[in-house]
Amino acid sequence: MVSHGFGVDIGGSGIKGAVVDLDTGLLVGDRLKLLTPQPSTPEAVAEAVAEVTKHFGWDGRIGATFPAPVTNGVARTAANVDPSWVNTNIEEVLGAATGCAVTAMNDADAAGVAEAAFGAAHGHDGLVIVTTLGTGIGTALLYRGILIPNSELGHLEVDGHDAEHGASSGAREREDLSWGEWSRRLERYYQALERYLWPELFVIGGGVSRKADKFIDRLHLRTPIVAAGLRNEAGIVGAAIHAASS
Ligand code: BGC
Repeated sequence: MVSHGFGVDIGGSGIKGAVVDLDTGLLVGDRLKLLTPQPSTPEAVAEAVAEVTKHFGWDGRIGATFPAPVTNGVARTAANVDPSWVNTNIEEVLGAATGCAVTAMNDADAAGVAEAAFGAAHGHDGLVIVTTLGTGIGTALLYRGILIPNSELGHLEVDGHDAEHGASSGAREREDLSWGEWSRRLERYYQALERYLWPELFVIGGGVSRKADKFIDRLHLRTPIVAAGLRNEAGIVGAAIHAASS
């Protein structure tokens, strides 16, 4: 029997959802993407998530990602979404709007779970750091496929600044950096991670991972670094996997 799950990836700019085949990690049909409402308050985002869920006629458990540390279903910060999310129970708010049970987790952690199950970190038995380069920088720590949640290493201080401020994909666009200029910042960032954690593999996720050939060879690191296997769908897939096991 084919087992299906449902994942919704909530980000600062888009809300994407799809049915996921839990045996293969592939999306079943197309995903739906809506623009994140502005301001991205809990009520407005929950309405958009309900629209996505309804579009697919889904009434089972939903796995939802959120761009902040999430403990017991509660958002703890709100770096790239409306500040009113802080201390909001994501599972309750989305559950009320959709009528479905919801399991929420950090977005980069979801990407990490998917990469460990079906992507570039599959079968790796050392410490892997999955980084999602988007509006911010998200990180997932995986050791022998087990997730250590809410690592928040995108906020590591590098050269006196919050790393995501200078090295995210958002920073590249905002400052109109060339691939070379951006790579130099990324390299500094990954070197800082190497210095503190000695990972055995870096995986680059987020939308920009589709263009990894433009920058990955410019990163001179002692750790192997590869593009995500599931590219930008990893959040949806990981959230669905995590929800199915909760
Ligand atoms: C947040 C993280 C999130 C990352 C990617 C950061 O600003 O603090 O929790 O994973 O952005 O969205």
